[in-house]
Formats: sequence, C-alpha cells, structure tokens
Amino acid sequence: MDDECVFYRELPKVELHAHLNGSVSFQTMEKLMNRKPHLNIEHSMTAIGKGQRRTLDECFEVFKVIHKLVDTEEDILMVSKDVIREFAEDGVKYLELRSTPREEQRTGLTKTNYIDTIIKAIQQCKSEGLDIDVRLLVAIDRRNGMEVAMETVKLAEEFMLSSDGLVVGIDLSGDPTVGHGKYFLPALERAKNGGLKLSLHLSEVQSQLEESELLLNLPPDRIGHGTFLHPEMGGSQSLVDKVVKNGIPLELCLTSNIKGQTVPMFSLHHFKYWYQLGHPTVICTDDKGVFCTDLSQEYQLVASTFGLSQKEMWKLSQQAIDCIFAEEAVKQQLKKKWQDLHPQVFK
Ligand code: IMP
Ligand code: ZN
Repeated sequence: MDDECVFYRELPKVELHAHLNGSVSFQTMEKLMNRKPHLNIEHSMTAIGKGQRRTLDECFEVFKVIHKLVDTEEDILMVSKDVIREFAEDGVKYLELRSTPREEQRTGLTKTNYIDTIIKAIQQCKSEGLDIDVRLLVAIDRRNGMEVAMETVKLAEEFMLSSDGLVVGIDLSGDPTVGHGKYFLPALERAKNGGLKLSLHLSEVQSQLEESELLLNLPPDRIGHGTFLHPEMGGSQSLVDKVVKNGIPLELCLTSNIKGQTVPMFSLHHFKYWYQLGHPTVICTDDKGVFCTDLSQEYQLVASTFGLSQKEMWKLSQQAIDCIFAEEAVKQQLKKKWQDLHPQVFK
C-alpha cells in the first residue's frame, strides 16, 4: 500500500449509506456459493468489476441474485458479521447499515427474524470488541408498495423500542423508476412522528422533480444520492433551497453512481456542487460488494478527483459525525475519538 492508501485507511470514517446485501464481499460470496452450489451462481453475477458499467436495471437484477444466496437466518448472521468486520478493518468507526426485511417461505425466514438476526450480529460484533459502533435502518423497497411500507414502519417502531437504540431509522430505496414517492408519504410521516429518522433515496434518476418536491416537505433527515436535485442536472433551485434551508445532509456514493451510469464521469459528480456550496455531504459506499469498493477508496477518489488535501478530507470525515442518527452522546464520543486519533493519522 502506498502512503496515500495508508492515510485513507487509517483515517477514521463514518459510513451512513450501506445496503447490507449490496455490501457482501467477494470472500463472503464465496462462502455463500459453496453453501448453495445448486444455484450455479458465479461472481460475475453478483459484482460489477473495475471499469465495468451496468444500467440501473441490471444493477437491480444483481440484488435479486444475491437475495437467492442470502435466504436463511444463518446466512444473514454470517453476512452481517462479515460486513461489519470488513467496515471495521477499513477504519470505519461508526456504521449505519440498512436492509430490507424479507420473508422466505422455503426457509421459514420471517421479517421479524430477519431484523432480529441483524441485531444479533451487531451485538455479537460488539461483544467481540470490534472498534465500531453499528446501527440499523430498516429499508422500504419502493417496488413492494404502500401497504408493505406501512408494515415495515410498524416493525421498525417495535424494534426501535426493543433494540436498545440499535434501530434508528427508515430508508426508502429500491428501483427509483418503479412507483411514486407520494404513496409512501403516510408511512414515512408515521415513522417520523414515531421518532424514527428518515434517509430517503431522492432524485437518483432524472425526472423525479415532483416526487422530490413532495418528499422534501417531510423533510427527511438525510438524502441518498440526490443526483438530479440541482439545476445543472435538470433539477431546480427550489429543490436546492429546500435542502439547504433544512440543512439536510447528502449521502454521496461516487463509484456506485458511475457504475450504475447515473453520472457520466467522476469529475462531473454532484459532490462538487454541494461541497462548493458548503453544504453537509457524507461520502459513502452504497454497495461495497456489488461495486467492488470500500470507504477508504471512495475518500481517496474524492480527494484525487476534486484536488482536496488530506486536511480537507479529515474535515469531511469529522463533519460526517454531525449527520449520524444515533443520539447526541454518541456524537460526542466519536468527536473525542477523532481528536485522539488525529496525531496518529497525521504522524
Ligand atoms: P438489502 O436491503 O440488504 O437486501 O440490500 C439490497 C437492496 O438495497 C436492493 O434490493 C435495493 O432495494 C436497495 N438498493 C441497493 N442499492 C441501491 C441503489 O443504488 N438505489 C436504490 N436502492 C438500492
Ligand atoms: Zn443506496
């Protein structure tokens, strides 16, 4: 590893946008494939390698394949623990995982077991002494419609109360070209009123102006991607004004946007627009397994693409602490951790 790589790996980081099943590494996939050889699934079907690109549709097909490999409690426990360990090894000190609860009739998996198992994995990693604080967002897949969304929120509410603060919010994700955000408003309003935080995939593809306007009125606590919000990308000043006025941080995932072809090249990524505005942005991975990346690489990519110094990148990682969904005391602990690690990282 060269000095730059070492710096970005040692840099303490916050990861706020990581879909569990999109974050499964090559090594863990290998174990899953060995468990289920009859499925005949190969690595080329579960990951998009260096230099490759896919349409968004193709990306969503990849998730369907991964879901076939991850369909028992045992799989979910292994996948969750491996993903948490890998983030910890990459220097992530605080992680918010998100995942869509699934039921699988074939294996008897229920949505409640699904969430329970991820919580178990988080607790086991904690008791093993890993230096990472992990929380969970329960995800609504827009493809499944408004009734499932409402059920998901109710489930998340129960877990928020019973998980000792581990379940902190709701994510709205899934194929952005399917359904309309307006159908999810009642579920999202209920979640918000009940104390769950909201992170919504917003303006991930073009022509979602009306939906974004509507969802921004909630307002959400964070935005995933927000690629087409600003006027230069076909969005509007009024959308930008709403985001700025409410100080809603953006979770930005460069490699994901390039490989999914919603952004044509790194130098045109909307990170630049929001960073220049001085608006809070958090660098994230989205799906580190599918897109073959990790958070250190994403930080390094932002630095090299936009010419930012190590000092500026440190500031970005530190400011991400203010965007987490866990309580204030956790923010204070993390700020102290960053202070303590500073001399070691800039030795
Ligand atoms: P899971 O929720 O842990 O099963 O993670 C995979 C799921 O995350 C996918 O089926 C999608 O619903 C969602 N997802 C992952 N990446 C993206 C994205 O870039 N946009 C929207 N949804 C996504
Ligand atoms: Zn995402």
